[in-house]
Amino acid sequence: MMTSRTVVVTGASRGLGLASAAHLHRAGWTVVAAMRSVDEGMARLRDATGAGAADRRLIGVRLDLTDAESISGAVKDIEQAVGAPYALVHNAGISAAGMVEETPVSLWERMFATNVFGPVALTRALLPSMRAAGAGRIVLVSSQGGVRGMPATAPYSAVKGALERWGESMAGEVASFGIGVSVLVTGTYDTDIITDAGTTDCRVLDGPYARHHQTMDRRGRAAMRYAARSPEAFAVGLEKALQSNKPFDRRAVGPDARMLMVASRLLPPSALHHMVRVMMGIPRFGAIRPVPATATRLPADSDPA
Ligand SMILES: NC(=O)c1ccc[n+]([C@@H]2O[C@H](COP(=O)([O-])OP(=O)(O)OC[C@H]3O[C@@H](n4cnc5c(N)ncnc54)[C@H](OP(=O)(O)O)[C@@H]3O)[C@@H](O)[C@H]2O)c1
Repeated sequence: MMTSRTVVVTGASRGLGLASAAHLHRAGWTVVAAMRSVDEGMARLRDATGAGAADRRLIGVRLDLTDAESISGAVKDIEQAVGAPYALVHNAGISAAGMVEETPVSLWERMFATNVFGPVALTRALLPSMRAAGAGRIVLVSSQGGVRGMPATAPYSAVKGALERWGESMAGEVASFGIGVSVLVTGTYDTDIITDAGTTDCRVLDGPYARHHQTMDRRGRAAMRYAARSPEAFAVGLEKALQSNKPFDRRAVGPDARMLMVASRLLPPSALHHMVRVMMGIPRFGAIRPVPATATRLPADSDPA
């Protein structure tokens, strides 16, 4: 029976985190909703769950994953409110669109700070109490971009790949203490992150990659609209993952993620590369004729955010 267990969900202010926090609360969990904007996020969560301000199973905690002080403050607040949480769900994340050549290094730094370094710091700080409790689960929300490097989202693919690898490493370390690790390879869900407004746009639409962008935009948007499922469907998958008792569990949530995981097991890397190129409409190998580098140099490094 899982009903009295406590789960910390990061990025609970909106999207998959909000839907998950609400769903888990309805399912009987004590939910610590960690977020940057607690007032707005908790108002949404109370709306979604019908929980009152005095509900002891719904606790808001301020957390900005790019700020070390905020992380240690959040850990203090979590442990004061609930002691050792049973589960920690690393859901918060950011994405960006653009080719490697178009994407400034400052964006890569922010991407790693939010999606990897912050979650690692939060995990390190909570592990002593979780180890002492002798039972728990750490869930890492990955993506299809973590299964293979997707064109035009290299920093995002890189952080999701990194997330999966540190999760695998950590699983071997914490299993003896009764703590399992789950990686959720997440499919496409209808949240801000799949919209232009919800992602950092580094694309240079009239630059050397103009031909890529034209077809990728058309096909990517069409595919996303077709594939996107409701955030509540993700929350159901997360709840199932939280019930796992495997020391390490990597699973797809959503049919598109499941298909990619199967394809990546069955197909060699060159076939996967070809499949993605054709699906995204990227010009074939060598199709773009060389022009002098000076004529196509992209703007100097700057933070687009
Ligand atoms: N939706 C999909 O199709 C999809 C697919 C694969 C994987 N995922 C993964 O699912 C997770 C949730 O994404 P989503 O779809 O729910 O996106 P979303 O609607 O854009 O939500 C992102 C969440 O992350 C939080 N966040 C961003 N930067 C933060 C920071 N520095 N500190 C703390 N929280 C921060 C946001 O908080 P604010 O409200 O304060 O900005 C928000 O709550 C992400 O890890 C994403 O990569 C999503």
